[in-house]
Amino acid sequence: MTTTTHAPVATAASARDLTKTYGTGAAAVHALDGVDVDLAPGRFTAVMGPSGSGKSTLMHCLAGLDRPTRGTVTVDGVDLTRLDDDRLTRFRRDHLGFVFQAFNLLPMLTARQNILLPLELAGRRVDANVCDDLDTVVSVLGLGDRLGHRPSELSGGQQQRVAIARALVSQASIVFADEPTGNLDSAASAEVLAYLRRSVRELGRTVVMVTHEIDAAAYADDVVVLADGRIRSHLVSPSRAELVSVLAGSSHRDAS
Ligand SMILES: Nc1ncnc2c1ncn2[C@@H]1O[C@H](COP(=O)(O)OP(=O)(O)O)[C@@H](O)[C@H]1O
Ligand SMILES: [Mg+2]
Repeated sequence: MTTTTHAPVATAASARDLTKTYGTGAAAVHALDGVDVDLAPGRFTAVMGPSGSGKSTLMHCLAGLDRPTRGTVTVDGVDLTRLDDDRLTRFRRDHLGFVFQAFNLLPMLTARQNILLPLELAGRRVDANVCDDLDTVVSVLGLGDRLGHRPSELSGGQQQRVAIARALVSQASIVFADEPTGNLDSAASAEVLAYLRRSVRELGRTVVMVTHEIDAAAYADDVVVLADGRIRSHLVSPSRAELVSVLAGSSHRDAS
């Protein structure tokens, strides 16, 4: 039986006046320039924008991997900017999951061992609850018959699904994914994106995915479009046509 001790929060993650400046004076780069954003829980949000628009910086600040120059970030009702480094590390470990372009799996470990590694490093016992969670996640991600395999015995798409399972099994309420299909061909990308979407639908998790590919963003529920460190639009359940038209105006380059 699980009970929540706090009222449900209306947003999974939000930022107010989020500003990140690298360097000073004439060399200053305003990677984020006063971003206000609210990301809905239980939804799949894509963060899009041209290269250098601040996508990764936004994700890193929202995920407590980087500290903003100014502004606040609230995740699961907690203001991350008020946490010291130790508490921020613990918060990340207990509340957030990460998926990167590189799968970052350890080659000598099986898929199952890779998935459970963060829990073991955190000193958590792999008890019945964890095993139940593992079974559910593995079945949603279609990895049931791959758990005993090492990464070298898996396709790229399967390896990224193991990385997603690793992010989900920690019971993370939000999974942040930065260009998760960047190393995959189009068939494997479609596979991974469909499984990410299933994790949101069937496990009720929140996924925030940075991508510069419209085909990837089309799998998301909502799309945040950045340009020059600012939010250009926040589209809720956009059609593909809507997405294409907004993106056509967000870049000087005409990508498609
Ligand atoms: N560590 C850093 N030092 C200096 N400039 C950086 C650093 N990280 C990012 N930037 C700059 O901030 C801007 C936004 O970068 P980034 O968030 O990585 O964009 P994106 O992920 O959309 O490509 C870019 O101009 C980039 O060069
Ligand atoms: Mg980036």
